[in-house]
Amino acid sequence: MKRRISKKPNKNLPPSPPKLPLIGNLHQFGSLPHQSLWELSKKYGPVMLFQLRNVPAVVISSAEAAKEVLKVHDLESCSRPPLHGARKLTYNYLDVAFSPYGEYWREIRKICVVELFSMKRVQSFESIREEEITNMINSISRHSLSSPNSPVDLTEKLFAFTASFIFRIAFGTSFEGTDFNRNKFYELVHAAEATMGGFCAAEYFPYVGWIVDWLSGLNRRREKVFHQLDSFFQKVVDEHLNPGRTKSQQDDIIDVLLKIIKEQSGFGAAMLTEKNIKAVLLNMFLGGVDTSAITMIWGMAELAKKPSVMKKAQEEVRNIIGNKGSVTLNDIDKLQYLKLIVKETFRLHPAGPLLLPRESISRFEVNGYEIEPKTLIQVNVWGIGRDPKIWTDPDEFIPERFMDSAIDFKGQHFELLPFGSGRRICPGIYMGTTTVELGLANLLYSFDWKLPDGMKEEDLNMEESAGLSLSLSKRTPLELVPKKHLFA
Ligand code: HEM
Repeated sequence: MKRRISKKPNKNLPPSPPKLPLIGNLHQFGSLPHQSLWELSKKYGPVMLFQLRNVPAVVISSAEAAKEVLKVHDLESCSRPPLHGARKLTYNYLDVAFSPYGEYWREIRKICVVELFSMKRVQSFESIREEEITNMINSISRHSLSSPNSPVDLTEKLFAFTASFIFRIAFGTSFEGTDFNRNKFYELVHAAEATMGGFCAAEYFPYVGWIVDWLSGLNRRREKVFHQLDSFFQKVVDEHLNPGRTKSQQDDIIDVLLKIIKEQSGFGAAMLTEKNIKAVLLNMFLGGVDTSAITMIWGMAELAKKPSVMKKAQEEVRNIIGNKGSVTLNDIDKLQYLKLIVKETFRLHPAGPLLLPRESISRFEVNGYEIEPKTLIQVNVWGIGRDPKIWTDPDEFIPERFMDSAIDFKGQHFELLPFGSGRRICPGIYMGTTTVELGLANLLYSFDWKLPDGMKEEDLNMEESAGLSLSLSKRTPLELVPKKHLFA
């Protein structure tokens, strides 16, 4: 369907950077679109209109305009565009994240919020998270004993932790119990993400895209990733359906979803099938593994660059936890400085720098500009988090800035939106935040950290990873030298 920007003269459309014939504005996005778009917003303002071939796209770059879209016009703007890359992997949008607004999305989201990611459910998974944190800490301790003074790859350790945790709560089994090799699994998750980017040439330029696809093998990769993930998800669902299976005491996510299918209760829109389960599992992996790991990696990198902040955080956690051995969920609310560190990390390094793309359902206005139906909308929360009109020394990592501030990241303060806001806000916000807080707290409690020999704070590479992936990783692995702390 063509969705050209209407040319009616009396419309007050948002300002647009100049376009090129055929490709419109696509060339302006670069390899890190959130950065290029933030630069463009300094010239064209907080509401910019782009043309992606047939699709009008609006980019929002201020807290006020974000509030207009995500709060005042939440209902008019809360659908998702039909992204080609996501279609295959989500069994035709049967998931939560890419499903368009409507009866189906409302029902499947309700299941996620009430049944899967509720505070009660997350707390029921607490012993699993504690075990996985202990595994991570033990594995770092082994490294520091066997190779003292040598750096450990924290990127690898943190991904292993979040993936094992999500793997166990979703499938009720650890990596080790399956023939699924850990590295293969990460590759697959990352490959799946890379095929789902929003500002991707292949999305908007089917004919140019065909060449791009052909050159990059994107379509082939997508098919391969789909078949690998699908057969893996199917296998674990089948295992759960086997009456002879030895089941753990507590339900995992597949158990919960299979029960809902069996009872078909509380679901109005359509009958749920195994495909729906597989689509939700995909969201858990793409939404749950990377985001939490990436946030902790950035957090540790910022602390390694600012040893005084790291020291203050360690003093706090060690004073409060004493010689208890580890930090657990009950302790978290006492760690006030750690919470400031997490907020500051979310501000500078939101895992989804442009949120997920929204699509407008009906016409509305933002800052006096008209937004037409079927416009793709991206909110540049990365840019808003660094806006000098809101933040003093915006590029500096200063957790104290939140000390006497009411600003939080739960979707009510539009200056800080790492989880989005409104109807599409991340339903995994509680699970994600507790994983990040507990992961960081335990790393700081158990070890002293320093940079590898010869490296200075300013040498630490803080470049963001280029690519079409939906989440924003650190480009190079984070390598720090751990030294076990005596109390722990
Ligand atoms: C630090 C951790 C996390 C961060 C920073 C994060 C961030 C986000 C963001 C920015 C969005 C898009 C919101 C929007 O479009 O306005 C989102 C959506 C979503 N997230 Fe998360 N997330 C995290 C953890 C999780 C976890 C642990 C899960 C589940 C296991 C999860 C599942 C989802 C789902 C299903 C959606 C789609 C919601 C919808 O479209 O209705 N996320 N997340």
